[in-house]
Amino acid sequence: MIAALMAMLVFVLAMIALEWLQLDHWLMSIILASITFLLLWLGIRFVLERFIYDRIRLIYKTIRSTKLGKANKRRLEDNGDIIENVNRDVEQWAKDRADEIELLKRNETFRREFLGNVSHELKTPITTIQGYVLTLLDGGMYDEAINKKYLLRTAKNINRLIAVVNDLDEISKIESGMMQMNFTRFNFSALVKDVFEFIEIKANKRKIVLHFSNGFESNIMVEADQGRVRQVLINLVDNSLKYGTSGGTTTISAFDMDENYLIEVADTGIGMDQVDLPRIFERFYRTEKSRSRDLGGTGLGLAIVKHIIEAHRQTIHVRSKIDVGTTFSFTLAKVNGKKAAAKKAE
Ligand SMILES: Nc1ncnc2c1ncn2[C@@H]1O[C@H](COP(=O)(O)OP(=O)(O)O)[C@@H](O)[C@H]1O
Ligand SMILES: [Mg+2]
Repeated sequence: MIAALMAMLVFVLAMIALEWLQLDHWLMSIILASITFLLLWLGIRFVLERFIYDRIRLIYKTIRSTKLGKANKRRLEDNGDIIENVNRDVEQWAKDRADEIELLKRNETFRREFLGNVSHELKTPITTIQGYVLTLLDGGMYDEAINKKYLLRTAKNINRLIAVVNDLDEISKIESGMMQMNFTRFNFSALVKDVFEFIEIKANKRKIVLHFSNGFESNIMVEADQGRVRQVLINLVDNSLKYGTSGGTTTISAFDMDENYLIEVADTGIGMDQVDLPRIFERFYRTEKSRSRDLGGTGLGLAIVKHIIEAHRQTIHVRSKIDVGTTFSFTLAKVNGKKAAAKKAE
């Protein structure tokens, strides 16, 4: 509107000037018409741009101030090219949404798999218990040959259910960030002795000898959550017995590194295929070989172990060879390591 009025005004003024100068040559008319057209075009463009920019700027400001916070509002004022800003933000927004959808899809698959695994792990012992109880009720309880045997098997399956539920409870606590870490300084060698004593009966049954490696008897002072580290050791030693071979050994060693101790739990058991190694820390993952052994594992132990080590900001690795054995190695912070010394100096 304004542009059109301006153009008309220019045109009228030009006509008056022409009249006044008494120039009525046709060339002058063409020049005047061209100038008028140019001015008109420039005016319309300017007004339209202002109109569109003002509205986009308003929308852009609203979106930014509601969605992105103060830091980005400042950026809006720094850079005046609103269209470029909008374009860049829309591209970024589209990329973020695509990533978000990808993550949601992955979580959904993971959730479905997790639920499937949980129900499978619970269903197996429940169905077995149901079978034994029904047989006992059907008259089996009066049969001396089977009643005690079936009750013992029922008890074993109940223990398995308890183990699964406890592990699930533990893992859900850890993953929802509810794991309280209680860091203290303690003697790792003493803890290993304690764990060995705790698990000795099982080791004797499996005819596996538990070892401290050379030089291990000296004091090894670490800074960690003692209860959690105990849990890690019990899980790893328990695995070494379950997947170990009769007459074999389980050896724990500690190696002095700059800031940490490298702890190794090595067995001479059935070992694992290389393809299994990247997956064994996943929940419920069990190798074919261990499944066929049916040792009542839940497949949750190593997932818990990894969470605990990572909550200490340390790492855990595994190496293994079929029929030779498996070694788990993880690090723990040394009490007088470089970091501890630097902290003291501060
Ligand atoms: N020391 C080991 N030797 C051979 N295989 C092992 C060893 N430790 C773990 N595994 C494999 O990793 C899987 C996961 O271990 P874990 O999470 O502790 O579950 P679980 O002990 O309940 O089976 C086991 O089922 C087994 O297949
Ligand atoms: Mg285990």
